[in-house]
Amino acid sequence: MDLKDKVAIITGASSGIGRAVAINLNEVGVKFILTGRREDRLKELKDELKYAAILAGDISQNEMPQNLLQTALDTFGRCDIVFNNAGIITVGSIDDIDIDAMSYMVRVNVEAAFRMAYVAVKHFKSTGSGYLLNTSSVLGTKVRPTAGAYAGTKFAIEALTEALRIELSRTSIGVAAVEPGLVKTDLHRDWPVPPAQKLNIPQPLQPEDIARVVRFILEQPDHVRLPRVLAVPADQDL
Ligand SMILES: NC(=O)c1ccc[n+]([C@@H]2O[C@H](COP(=O)([O-])OP(=O)(O)OC[C@H]3O[C@@H](n4cnc5c(N)ncnc54)[C@H](OP(=O)(O)O)[C@@H]3O)[C@@H](O)[C@H]2O)c1
Repeated sequence: MDLKDKVAIITGASSGIGRAVAINLNEVGVKFILTGRREDRLKELKDELKYAAILAGDISQNEMPQNLLQTALDTFGRCDIVFNNAGIITVGSIDDIDIDAMSYMVRVNVEAAFRMAYVAVKHFKSTGSGYLLNTSSVLGTKVRPTAGAYAGTKFAIEALTEALRIELSRTSIGVAAVEPGLVKTDLHRDWPVPPAQKLNIPQPLQPEDIARVVRFILEQPDHVRLPRVLAVPADQDL
């Protein structure tokens, strides 16, 4: 895809991977609709980008995906890319996990992502082209103790992405799952012991590493698809 003047919705743009993807794609002339709950962070990012608009809010509100698409169409007249990336992590053994936090994680990581995909694919089918990138995880195909619920949300993303890849074959609509290993972001900010220490990964990925992967996927010629890309730190032995 020639990315110049393409319009991208980025969910989870207020920090980490979403923010880094916006900064990377800004270099090649992409225009953005940025979303997340922390509006101050979105405003700071908007000021760094050439063309961006903000729609702050909780992605688990059912109307958000359609409102994001409408904002893209009202602001820039088109929507070509959806980076379906917002996510949270809650861990714990199933008898001990904070069950309400776990259920909210399922709403954000699965239900909201599926609703965003629903809106994106419907729009791309109406225009004949587009790219949906879903942020999965190394835990989209593997599990580890206490992370069964989080991994379950990412397994769901993998299942959706693979089904869409088949449904959308022979069209100009691309779909991909990006599968990061440990990345240094705000995701684990509540953990008493940082994951790099807990998992013995002295050099986690940086959000910019995943941003390069996302750009690489998008810049492939139309006949090439990269439906799943796993990117892990050299020290991650899961
Ligand atoms: N970091 C890792 O090691 C890692 C590894 C594999 C996969 N991932 C995945 O990568 C994605 C991005 O995470 P990250 O690592 O970049 O962490 P992050 O820095 O915490 O970013 C998460 C983003 O999601 C947004 N978000 C979370 N809940 C939301 C909600 N209810 N409504 C709207 N926005 C919400 C956050 O915005 P607000 O807080 O402003 O709402 C933030 O912009 C997630 O899907 C995560 O599961 C991360």
